[in-house]
Amino acid sequence: MPDRCADAIALLQPKVGGPGSIAVILGTGLGGVADAVTDAVAIPYADIPGFPRSAVSGHAGRLVIGRLEGRRVILLQGRSHYYETGDAGAMRTPIETLSRLGVSTIVITNAAGAIRKDAQPGNLALISDHINLTGANPLIGDTDDGRFVSMTDAYSPRLRARIKRAATQAGVKLHEGVYCWVSGPSFETPAEIRMMRTLGADLVGMSTVPEVILARRFGIDVAGISVVTNLAAGMEGASPSHGETKTVASTGGIVLKRLLLAFLKGLDDV
Ligand code: HPA
Repeated sequence: MPDRCADAIALLQPKVGGPGSIAVILGTGLGGVADAVTDAVAIPYADIPGFPRSAVSGHAGRLVIGRLEGRRVILLQGRSHYYETGDAGAMRTPIETLSRLGVSTIVITNAAGAIRKDAQPGNLALISDHINLTGANPLIGDTDDGRFVSMTDAYSPRLRARIKRAATQAGVKLHEGVYCWVSGPSFETPAEIRMMRTLGADLVGMSTVPEVILARRFGIDVAGISVVTNLAAGMEGASPSHGETKTVASTGGIVLKRLLLAFLKGLDDV
């Protein structure tokens, strides 16, 4: 079988250097975190063989390699969603490539709706676990035993503890909850949101879960952070929109940047 990551690795390896970079996927409207990167090298996904061309507004679609708080980082500014192509494995090449470039930690961020009232638009929430309501899985079609990935502690308890500590240090309010993955692109009905609440979900969104499954498949430790952009459909009459998601995400992104910088700064602490 052809190695679908070989060309991307050949292109990126000299820019990334050795193993140990921390990767961050920046969700809708959250790309501003990349502004803080020093020694930055930015490469459009279109120039990286096998990387997806996300056409969703609010996503720059480029990789930014550089340093944050002195630590080597690889930021993925934008992602491809299941709803764009119907392919849950759309982020497979980027994530496998990161793994083979020696990335062992990835922070996956997104914009999400809140299913609980205590999380308000603009707040951050640490993802503790997820529910996959799509029926899709990026590993469908794989033939090796590596496809039977354990999803217990998929969101690393060690990284979650570090991110909570960083939130306290940075004075950032951080909720914690279960993220429910829906396909989109239409938003949910109020009845669906009531069902998700009954099932134990706290957040709802159209991304992240396939990337988490792929990252675990390729042995990468995962943390997930949502920027709450809205109350979910039907809550206090809410009717979410992509415009609202982008606007609120860009302010939430400022708080996210503070949290990420505190997390990276604290990584050397024991
Ligand atoms: N539902 C699904 N995806 C979302 C939402 C929502 O309410 N907000 C931001 N992304």
